[in-house]
Amino acid sequence: MNSRSTVPFLVHDLRCEYQDNPLGIDIAQPRLSWKLASAQRGVVQSAYQIRVTDTSDVLWETGKVLSHQSIHVPYGGSVLHSGQRCTWRVRVWNGNDRPSAWSEPAWWEMGLLHPSDWHAHWIAPGWQEDPNTQRPCPYLRTTFSVDGPVSRARAYITSLGLYELFLNGQRVGDAYFTPGYTSYHRRLQYQTYDITALLQQNENAIGVILGDGWYRGKLGSGPGGSPRNTYGERLALLVQLHLRYADGHEQFVLSDEGWQATTGPILSSDLQAGEVYDARLEMPGWNKPGFDASQWQKVEAVSYRKDHLVATNGPLVRPHEEITPIALLRTPNDETVVDMGQNFAGIVRFRVQGPAGTTIRLQHGETLDAYGNFTVAHLQVPHGFQEVRYTLKGEAEEVYTPHFTFHGFRYVKVEDLLGMPRVEQFTGLALYSDLPETGTFECSDPLINRLQQNILWSQKSNMLEIPTDCPTRERTGWTGDVQVFARTGSFLMQTPGFLSKWLKDLAAEQMADGQVANIVPSPELARPGKAVSVPWITRALPYPGKSFPGSAGWGDAAVIVPWTLYQCYEDQRVLEQQYASMQAWVEYMRKQAKKQPWLRRITPISWRNQEKRPYEPYLWDTGFHFGEWLEPDEGLFGPKMAIGILKRMLFSAPLVATAYFAHSTRLLAEIAHVLGKDDDAREYEALHRRIKEAYRAVFIHQDGRIHPDKQASYIRALAFDLVPPALQRAAVDHLVMLIKENDDHLGTGFLSTPFLCHVLSSNGQLDIAYALLKQDTIPSWLYEVKKRATTIWEDWDGIGEDGTPKGSLNHYSKGAVGSWLYQVVAGIEPGAPGYKHIRFRPRPGGGLTAASARYHSLYGEIASSWQIRDGTFALTITVPANTTAAVFLPGTEAGQVTEGGQAVETAEGVIQVSQQQEATVVEVGSGTYAFAYPFSSNNE
Ligand code: BGC
Repeated sequence: MNSRSTVPFLVHDLRCEYQDNPLGIDIAQPRLSWKLASAQRGVVQSAYQIRVTDTSDVLWETGKVLSHQSIHVPYGGSVLHSGQRCTWRVRVWNGNDRPSAWSEPAWWEMGLLHPSDWHAHWIAPGWQEDPNTQRPCPYLRTTFSVDGPVSRARAYITSLGLYELFLNGQRVGDAYFTPGYTSYHRRLQYQTYDITALLQQNENAIGVILGDGWYRGKLGSGPGGSPRNTYGERLALLVQLHLRYADGHEQFVLSDEGWQATTGPILSSDLQAGEVYDARLEMPGWNKPGFDASQWQKVEAVSYRKDHLVATNGPLVRPHEEITPIALLRTPNDETVVDMGQNFAGIVRFRVQGPAGTTIRLQHGETLDAYGNFTVAHLQVPHGFQEVRYTLKGEAEEVYTPHFTFHGFRYVKVEDLLGMPRVEQFTGLALYSDLPETGTFECSDPLINRLQQNILWSQKSNMLEIPTDCPTRERTGWTGDVQVFARTGSFLMQTPGFLSKWLKDLAAEQMADGQVANIVPSPELARPGKAVSVPWITRALPYPGKSFPGSAGWGDAAVIVPWTLYQCYEDQRVLEQQYASMQAWVEYMRKQAKKQPWLRRITPISWRNQEKRPYEPYLWDTGFHFGEWLEPDEGLFGPKMAIGILKRMLFSAPLVATAYFAHSTRLLAEIAHVLGKDDDAREYEALHRRIKEAYRAVFIHQDGRIHPDKQASYIRALAFDLVPPALQRAAVDHLVMLIKENDDHLGTGFLSTPFLCHVLSSNGQLDIAYALLKQDTIPSWLYEVKKRATTIWEDWDGIGEDGTPKGSLNHYSKGAVGSWLYQVVAGIEPGAPGYKHIRFRPRPGGGLTAASARYHSLYGEIASSWQIRDGTFALTITVPANTTAAVFLPGTEAGQVTEGGQAVETAEGVIQVSQQQEATVVEVGSGTYAFAYPFSSNNE
């Protein structure tokens, strides 16, 4: 190469659709991203060149494109076909128009893009089953011959129910719960595996085990336990191997009537109930060639559609942390309990030894009760929940890892193990969707650090195939929970692959009138015939099997989640993909708002007041809404919660619903702008103005009060910019008064907790935000931590003062305070979508002497770390190449600030320095900068 190759920057970390070399995707124009690395400051990309090839041809050559864009460049070459492998490289030019070297190659491979690519047949075991019981897992197998060197082989596979695939005795891939959970009747995922290295010459064997999973296992929860067979009663398999030989000829191995099936050691398997395994029934070699399957039965070909098969474009569930127990307990009830030390979603791998026929039983639970005994009573689950039973075959040492189940747990009650177990026999395996971890946070307060860990663990426990409420009781995709948590979760982990899959299900299940089910995928929609026949009773029952659809703050996930992905990742395609769904949701709200509430005369709003009539069509005052949900004074499962639900059934929740109507409409207008839909943007801006006027006229009193006079009312109105500027001060004062009257305690539930500290800190009340963060009596975040929580609880008093557990102890919703830790305490915020421009604005307070956060953005690592020591505030930040940043240094003037020991104005990479009230603002290019200046705690 010429001297240009010495340019000190390189292009690396190539990603296609957020992934490292994805295999088997079905996105027609996959988006390509890369990072620039350089030790220099102020590095930008001024141009790029991409070259995409397949084995023989150049598919796309961009030439030099003058552009800063280094993320989400859509492939623009010739049309891609099924199974095509595309290799790509990129090089870039920096701000001085000097080119980098070409990157290392990366690739992606297309899956099967058309139903006609599937030559395989759906097959199912031939025997009769009783759909009302738990049925043993079917084992299926076939053999085939390979003659000659194979250059490339793929397995394409999916199932009704879950599958584990084996080739010649080896497990293919390491994912759990494949093919994943989607709205099965509308979209069913398949997976693609590279099996080239697993093949052997001559005879080969494929084996598959099927499990009930979401398809026909227990799903949701409700009085009397969860129903089974939500999507169907019969498990089935569709698999197709495609081999290409070195000489160019091809071979297909397909699921068809030539396969055989039997049952084996997995006597039953259910995501909620657990697994029953009898090792004496194992069939050694069942998935290898040469096995005698003469006693196995025939399979049947079944007719099931293939036109709704979709590739897997996002992460699958994989095993992550291995957790070593911290103690073995003997409880007052004389139970033997293993303490994993961490609440999480996953399974236990255990080792046992003993005579054949001995059965050991493990039951998994989140907590001990007030007396220190094992319990699952607080979860209100039926008998036989989260249990694994294993019958020994009587070998030297037997090791068991469950196949098709997971539990939400920290404690494991062990029964019938011969002798006293040893902790070394048990290892916890955390299972969750394979989202890369992207964010960290730490500060000088160990309790807040534990809170941060708890938030992360609740995310891990609830991002398992779909975003769930909890990994125990309901395990379903409650829309409201992810709506409130998406922002925090998108800092801690890379969420787009995971969430955009779920959003497709949300859109697929949206009703004709735009209504969004409160749970997605919706078990209720999948079992329409089984709904209670009186519709209003059906809607009234407060359990997910028959959930109330279309609740404000829940259905708004349709707009808020894609918008969050756009903010955090500049993912414009998810906005395009979801636009019709968002618009339908907003139009649904518009129609609902126009309707008259059936108890008009006794609603809290006085309609005798003629002046307010014009606002009526913009107030959403019909239908049931969960409302703020689980404020401390309402609490879970008590009479107050029942009364609250009843009230909202009778009177709706106009204050909350109208606020969300306004908020989602405003976001939709912004989204329409981003997508260049200018007419829509104008339309929704106008609608938003109307709703806002109505909200102000009807709900905000002239003294700035909002009824009900609760913290959530003010927080929501301020967060959604619904308070007229002249009344903002008064509204903030009311909010502060309510907090003070509550002895510096929060009073929020699900919906406004994420905004609480943000609203305070952006309205001059930073000290109160910190006081709430550091509060450690009920209700507060640190109360949980002091009660030794290792995850976030559903209710503020999940474990009461007396140690009594209540509700789920692993609900991430209230962990949405995380975004305040990252954006305000550590001060990392996207200044432009996707962090192309970054705002560093740390706001020290609360007696913290240090805080730091890192975020692995699509451009590279962003870091912020501050400390106050010996009267000096020191802030070190890292800005990735091809981005810029504005750094707000609190409580100082430019003249006092140094960078790397020299006056800030003269530091390399500094673009501009200015003063904004009490903060010095430094505009910088990429690089790492160390700022320092004299500081006292009153500076803020
Ligand atoms: C779930 C929640 C959910 C709520 C609806 C609960 O049972 O666990 O997290 O959002 O119902 O209000």
